[in-house]
Amino acid sequence: MKAVELSKVDFTYDDGVQALRDVSIDIDAGERVALVGPNGAGKSTLLHIMSSLYAPTSGTVRIDGEEITKRTMEKARFKVGFLFQDPDDQIFMPRVWDDVAFGPMNMKLDPQEVERRVRESMELAAITGYEDRAPHHLSFGEKKRVAIAGILAMRSPILLMDEPTANLDPQGRRDLVNVLTSLCDKTMVIATHDMSVALELTDRVIVLKRSVLYDGSFRGLVERPDILSEARLELPSIPRLMERWMERTGRTGPLPLTIDEALAMLEEGCRQR
Ligand SMILES: Nc1ncnc2c1ncn2[C@@H]1O[C@H](COP(=O)(O)OP(=O)(O)O)[C@@H](O)[C@H]1O
Ligand SMILES: [Mg+2]
Repeated sequence: MKAVELSKVDFTYDDGVQALRDVSIDIDAGERVALVGPNGAGKSTLLHIMSSLYAPTSGTVRIDGEEITKRTMEKARFKVGFLFQDPDDQIFMPRVWDDVAFGPMNMKLDPQEVERRVRESMELAAITGYEDRAPHHLSFGEKKRVAIAGILAMRSPILLMDEPTANLDPQGRRDLVNVLTSLCDKTMVIATHDMSVALELTDRVIVLKRSVLYDGSFRGLVERPDILSEARLELPSIPRLMERWMERTGRTGPLPLTIDEALAMLEEGCRQR
């Protein structure tokens, strides 16, 4: 079952800027995909299209097999949770609790279920105790957590996240990665500059620069320096370190991507000395 299907999508803004050209992407239900690319590549635009906030200039979008039209748009929006790049675009209630509860209330759930979901998602986003705070007084990272709690409370099967870890402190980034890892039944598309997050959270990477430059495994992308450089991407430090080490020691084989893979190669190296 496909959760998201984009076919030959073009998107041009009113001022004539073409943000997307001929983008076709299929995402299976339960799949986790990283969307990477330089500033201005069209990542945010693409997520707006997937969430049916923008209609493509041409091409089609299907969510759960159903083509998005004016008629099906409302239904599709309930299936998709969208974390905006800027939490100020997302948060608008005067109290944190009301903001997190807004989505579930809109779904007309009974008050006990709303209460349960709000508590649970606030705990997951590590903002328990913030119930009565005013969102506009919070720091950027705290606002981001409120926005994340709001999305989690909706329990949408498809999550679109626009740079979810940007501006979070290291522990906040780690907490978010753990929360997203625990949501194992969701379809996720995560736009990010953080290649470590992409590697840790997803099985598939799409490199976008107005069009799709690459769509495949992280491991496959590592072997495409042309694409990495065209999209101004930098590998996480572990593979960069190991690349240098392998060059220096004349070692061959697949480049270690994770700490565990790197340790295994280094230990093997020590044993052979
Ligand atoms: N509201 C808008 N009006 C006109 N151009 C826009 C608008 N939003 C984004 N753009 C342009 O569209 C292109 C893609 O932007 P965006 O999707 O935000 O890229 P990314 O998220 O990858 O940084 C950029 O050239 C950007 O300047
Ligand atoms: Mg963006």
